[in-house]
Amino acid sequence: MERIISDLEMANEVEIQKSLRPKTFREYIGQTNLKEKMSIYIEAAKKRNTTVDHILLYGPPGLGKTTLAGVIANEMKANLKITSGPILDKAGDLAAILTSLEENDILFIDEIHRLNSSVEEILYPAMEDGELDIMIGKGPSARSIRIELPPFTLVGATTRAGLLSSPLRDRFGVSHKMEYYNNDEIKGIIIRGAKILGVGITEEGAEEISKRSRGTPRIANRLLKRVRDYCDIKGNGNIDKNIANKALDMLGVDENGLDDLDRNIVNSIIENYDGGPVGIETLSLLLGEDKRTLEEVYEPYLVKIGFLKRTNRGRVVTPKAYQHFRKVVK
Ligand code: ADE
Repeated sequence: MERIISDLEMANEVEIQKSLRPKTFREYIGQTNLKEKMSIYIEAAKKRNTTVDHILLYGPPGLGKTTLAGVIANEMKANLKITSGPILDKAGDLAAILTSLEENDILFIDEIHRLNSSVEEILYPAMEDGELDIMIGKGPSARSIRIELPPFTLVGATTRAGLLSSPLRDRFGVSHKMEYYNNDEIKGIIIRGAKILGVGITEEGAEEISKRSRGTPRIANRLLKRVRDYCDIKGNGNIDKNIANKALDMLGVDENGLDDLDRNIVNSIIENYDGGPVGIETLSLLLGEDKRTLEEVYEPYLVKIGFLKRTNRGRVVTPKAYQHFRKVVK
């Protein structure tokens, strides 16, 4: 019989998803160096009764930039407002958000490298002097007005720090590169997640999921949820090595955490370009995939595990990748 999820169960499910994100530094696993630095800056700001300096977080997607902004807001006992570069189309969009800020709020701008220049210019005086300069009207009657903003902290996140203009980059007092998590950290995140989801998991089960999570908490939690589904139907409600393996094989995620598109990227370069070099534009056309997704989501991990090299002549597949896919190096 088909089971209909009640509103109450649905609300519970949403709450569980939210609670997978840690809310304090104590709950937050990994990024030790960043946590240490941020805890000090937060304590110092609280002691002086001021806001924390503006923070830039950069690195591959899924490593917890948004989560960290939430932790910072929580530790500062401040509100978190979330927006993103591509959403802020016009200067007025950002002005509306800035004028709605309350004292000590944390404003999180995701994909900050995708702000257009007219919006970015509004941000400079807001970050530097806590002021908003806006033009009212057009032509000879146009005039500029200045609005004082309450003190706030901007947390900017980007997967492409290199694309940030230097005036914007220079206005962040703290700039930090988020690193991939190690195996033990990801295992810890999976065990914590399983507890929140209310599913049993063995050490080896967590290890199996961890190995295939690409050092990325977002992927670890996603795989955990899929393994839990598999386990609920085909297993006994407890995730062990065997169940985790079967579920992950079914998902097409290999022992390195590579999925179909990763394999396609490497194999296309090997088969069509003798292992490269090949330009990113050509690769994007060949695979029918968005160039930005390739650059920002897929390539960083292939580079990290030493399967791909980015050279100034294009992308090159390494002997290690040939070996993994058992192809003969030319
Ligand atoms: N869930 C997602 N990211 C996490 C982290 N860094 N620590 C604990 N739980 C998490």
